[in-house]
Amino acid sequence: MQKILVTGGAGFIGSCFVRTQLRNYPDQHVVVLDKLTYSGNLDNLKGLDETRISFIRGDVNNPEHVRHALEGCDGAVHFAAESHVDRSLSGASDFIATNVGGVNTLLSQARAMNLERILLVSTDEVYGSVTDGSSKEDSPILPRNPYSASKASGELIGLSYFESFCMPVIITRGSNTYGPYQYPEKVLPLFISNAIDNEPLPLYGDGRNVRDWLFVEDHCAGIDCAFRKGTPGEAYNIAGENERENITLTRKVLSLLNRPDTLIRYIEDRTGHDRRYSIDSTKLKALGWEPKMNFDEGIAFTVKWYQENEWWWRKIKSGEFKAYYEEHYRERLDKSQGI
Ligand code: NAD
Ligand code: DAU
Repeated sequence: MQKILVTGGAGFIGSCFVRTQLRNYPDQHVVVLDKLTYSGNLDNLKGLDETRISFIRGDVNNPEHVRHALEGCDGAVHFAAESHVDRSLSGASDFIATNVGGVNTLLSQARAMNLERILLVSTDEVYGSVTDGSSKEDSPILPRNPYSASKASGELIGLSYFESFCMPVIITRGSNTYGPYQYPEKVLPLFISNAIDNEPLPLYGDGRNVRDWLFVEDHCAGIDCAFRKGTPGEAYNIAGENERENITLTRKVLSLLNRPDTLIRYIEDRTGHDRRYSIDSTKLKALGWEPKMNFDEGIAFTVKWYQENEWWWRKIKSGEFKAYYEEHYRERLDKSQGI
């Protein structure tokens, strides 16, 4: 492919995808369409070859923005989304608009364009909480929070365009992703940056919920593999194969930063908190992908990146994020200390 559209390319995973596409496909041009919401950040694309990227500030819910961005593209990878579960619990409208409506806008505009491939980036959360074993692509879709329900709905809209209009739609379902440039509302960058500042780490519930940790470059390699080698109409799981309880992850961060466990605060749980996610990636592995990053090395690398790149996250944490943090955590943090 000569020119691809990457929506949400200024976000955490999207910007890594842009970076790795430029690195791995020297003749390819990338168009980024991004609204630059609170989590979109042009700093994430700093230092990349600007002659090979066209950045368009625009909304995936706006047909004209999408049509303009798609001009001349032969493929599209759709990352743009509202991505944080906690925010979806405080209000789901933006999640429905972007994560469901945005897929429809993208695909309805792409219908006239004859793209070779369109990949929708989805999540392992669509399977809901998994008590035993690991979900396969044909396991039931049972999302349990507004974010995951909106992602599952986006998937179904995508598959309907495959069935109804023969559009080459492929879906990936990645697990919990970590690495550089992740907005510090997500647990790892939040806990790393709080620990650097000797601030408490607000751990939900009993801290024993399980997530499967996937390094961001491995996630992007999995998306690329499904995009180029996957079968239209199919979904592919992308697992990190590093299931850990949140408390284990938290202690790991503290030990890497030489901070005491007394920084941990058990606070009132996230409502409807899914206990465990676990997916099986056998189907994608058959196409030649596998996760490369070892968990201990990946976490150590990530902690070091946030230590060495305070310029990146301090700007964010001193802005809009401050008010969000106070509203979302202060009462629960005070309660946890009997205040
Ligand atoms: P992120 O919040 O860091 O980035 C989202 C990007 O989308 C931002 O740049 C934002 O400005 C942009 N955006 C939001 N609404 C938009 C709109 N209406 N129009 C155009 N751009 C818009 O999220 P992320 O963690 O990088 O996630 C990217 C994708 O991967 C999402 O679809 C998410 O559901 C999926 N995913 C994330 C994870 C994870 O662990 N972070 C795991 C699996 C799947
Ligand atoms: O599984 C894939 C999903 O992973 C993606 O689809 C989402 O976009 C991404 O945000 C992520 O969702 P989670 O809800 O799992 O990620 P989060 O970082 O918010 O939380 C990870 C775990 O840590 C979860 O069990 C809740 C817990 N947690 C989170 C925060 C923010 C805490 O204990 N304290 C916190 O302050």
